[in-house]
Amino acid sequence: MDLTGKTALITGASRGIGAATARLFAAAGAHVALAARDRDAIAALAAEIGPRAIVTPCDISRYDEVQGAVDACISATGRLDILIGNAGVIDPITPLAEADPEAWGKAVDINLKGVFHGMRAAMPVMRDQGGGTIITVSSGAAHSPLEGWSQYCAAKAGAAMLTRSAHLEGAPMGLRVMGLSPGTVATDMQRRIRASGVNPVSTLDWSDHIPPEWPAKALLWMCGPEADPWRGEEISLRDPEIRQKAGVA
Ligand SMILES: NC(=O)c1ccc[n+]([C@@H]2O[C@H](COP(=O)([O-])OP(=O)(O)OC[C@H]3O[C@@H](n4cnc5c(N)ncnc54)[C@H](OP(=O)(O)O)[C@@H]3O)[C@@H](O)[C@H]2O)c1
Repeated sequence: MDLTGKTALITGASRGIGAATARLFAAAGAHVALAARDRDAIAALAAEIGPRAIVTPCDISRYDEVQGAVDACISATGRLDILIGNAGVIDPITPLAEADPEAWGKAVDINLKGVFHGMRAAMPVMRDQGGGTIITVSSGAAHSPLEGWSQYCAAKAGAAMLTRSAHLEGAPMGLRVMGLSPGTVATDMQRRIRASGVNPVSTLDWSDHIPPEWPAKALLWMCGPEADPWRGEEISLRDPEIRQKAGVA
């Protein structure tokens, strides 16, 4: 996949899957806007990537900051071709009956409203450009409840439905909208899950997790026409056919 001349906004680019995706997309020729709260981490990644990186610190739970990140893409490159809605949080990991309502709601603001904020800011730009690709990083938790993860499962389920809604409304504008469920990935998020010991995912062996470069490769493949048959759908990176197509088999 050659992304020369394209601009990609990647949320949650300060580490994990988002950082691996930013590195890969930049190597494929794209300008990459790095959106996350940790300014030092995205500045360091931008320095590593070089001139095609755009530093867009933002908290995706705040719409005006996400709009600011989209505006920065337009100022820097005049366009926005790809939105990877990847930022997410697993905390608070807590039994529902003991959850702090403020913390629970804040996490939903990130995991669900944050995905909406990205789409809301990007879709008009892509519509006016005549096309674009929006990919939401989903989770098996969108489809199956797990102990201690009520906010994560509920918000990821909402984000999956939001992605289908964006496809329904975006396809007539020429937008390609999809979800990627990566399986379990060796990132900070899995470290926190492991430390919680709360459900079967936390007991997985570290070697069960795939490296973050695998979902990055799948996301790159999803930006190309070979993935068009999956528009409007959620792709699973556990699927051997998808692994083979993404080049991680
Ligand atoms: N790891 C897995 O096994 C796994 C499995 C299924 C799905 N996923 C999904 O994959 C995505 C990436 O997760 P990961 O494993 O790479 O986790 P991670 O290493 O913890 O990275 C999460 C990223 O999200 C960013 N983020 C969190 N809150 C944010 C906010 N309010 N505004 C902007 N950015 C925010 C973080 O940056 P800052 O803290 O700097 O803001 C960080 O860059 C998530 O959506 C996650 O649900 C992961």
